[in-house]
Amino acid sequence: MAVGAHLGIPLREYDERIRTFIPWYDEMLDEAAACLPRRGGKSATLVDLGIGSGALAAECVSVWPRARVIGFDSDAEILQMAGARLGSRLTGCVGDFETATMPRCEAIVSAFALHHVRTARSKATLYRKCHRALTAGGVLVIADCQLSSRADLAVVDRAAWLSHLCQYYTAAESRAFLRAWAKQDHYLTLTDELALLQAAGFRTDVRWRRYSFAVIVASR
Ligand SMILES: C[S@@+](CC[C@H](N)C(=O)[O-])C[C@H]1O[C@@H](n2cnc3c(N)ncnc32)[C@H](O)[C@@H]1O
Repeated sequence: MAVGAHLGIPLREYDERIRTFIPWYDEMLDEAAACLPRRGGKSATLVDLGIGSGALAAECVSVWPRARVIGFDSDAEILQMAGARLGSRLTGCVGDFETATMPRCEAIVSAFALHHVRTARSKATLYRKCHRALTAGGVLVIADCQLSSRADLAVVDRAAWLSHLCQYYTAAESRAFLRAWAKQDHYLTLTDELALLQAAGFRTDVRWRRYSFAVIVASR
């Protein structure tokens, strides 16, 4: 599904509206970019899965100024926004990152896109593919919603997300967003996400966590 339709917004408003939907969006992107290992100015290939308008890749480029970015997205229109942001350093690939051949790279990053992977089995396959594509010492960095394993904390986390939405929308609109996304998106618990990454061969760290949102770095 095209991003605008999924979020129920005109695509030109994406950069503004994503910040009303996701609490700590900018902070999470900063934290994700900060997980890239220091390369002392060496060139590198960085892959962004579900690059969207390119905000995370742009943060990464500020840490790796000589990086070439390969951005996958199934939505050609939003990929154009990433192109406008990243210029000639971006190679945009319109297509499904689950089935695409993953290029050899030093880092793979992804923000708020991997919850579109429908099953844990598909995610396990994707993580194994990422592990094979990364050079030694490479990292997979994920910023996304990762649920608590405890039902009582999951309730608190949902209330925190709702309270963020209510700063911008009515309570009814905010609840409707969460209901609609819950139908389309596929969230795992943080514990299960880490287990899948470890089973694929990664060492894992949780670099940042607030309520149900987390930045994970998985190192090869
Ligand atoms: C919520 S947006 C996040 C975009 C961006 N990473 C950000 O942080 O703003 C999710 C993006 O992932 C893309 N996407 C979802 N599943 C995908 C898939 N299987 N293959 C390629 N792109 C996908 C969508 O088209 C969309 O642009």
